[in-house]
Amino acid sequence: MKLAVFASGTGSNFDAIVHAIQNGELDAEVTMLVCDRVGAPVIEKAQNYEIDTIVFSANVYESKAQYEEALLKDCRERGIDYIILAGFMRLIGPTLLEPYRNRILNIHPSLLPAFPGKDAIGQAFDQQVKITGVTVHFVDEGMDTGPIIEQEAVRIEDGDTKDDVVRKIQAIEHKLYPSVIRTLKIKEESI
Ligand code: GRF
Repeated sequence: MKLAVFASGTGSNFDAIVHAIQNGELDAEVTMLVCDRVGAPVIEKAQNYEIDTIVFSANVYESKAQYEEALLKDCRERGIDYIILAGFMRLIGPTLLEPYRNRILNIHPSLLPAFPGKDAIGQAFDQQVKITGVTVHFVDEGMDTGPIIEQEAVRIEDGDTKDDVVRKIQAIEHKLYPSVIRTLKIKEESI
């Protein structure tokens, strides 16, 4: 199963997926990294693993459809089965969504539909909720709205700082994402 990971940031989830593959816990290949931010730390991680990396700047394209058309071509050429969003900070448009419907996954650091959008951990912390968590879902046109595949809860204890919550969430993300990807099946229909 060939994966394209789309990420814009640190890449700790990218790392966790690659490690799960290297440890034999996940039968897949990260065939390509797509990153929309020049200099993002995830790029160096991919280069260290010698994973094919595409860095693009959305603002050099006239439209979202144009850069998604280019990314679709990259995915098709490499036979990508699933697109794995891991901290990719752009909504996916119809150009990629239609061919890859139910083949694009996202991980979000809250129990959706609570706290969608940016800084979900900060939102949960500020609202003083006692339980938050992690969601893996299929991507649709909305922001963090697609069908939920799996969730895991995290308790925010009295005295936890926001950093403590970030650490707990990340520890769950790094196990949950590879374990959800393990359940995906290669589909026969070509993209
Ligand atoms: C993760 O918290 C993920 O849930 C969210 O973006 C963050 C990416 O972190 N979508 P990293 O770059 O994988 O460390």
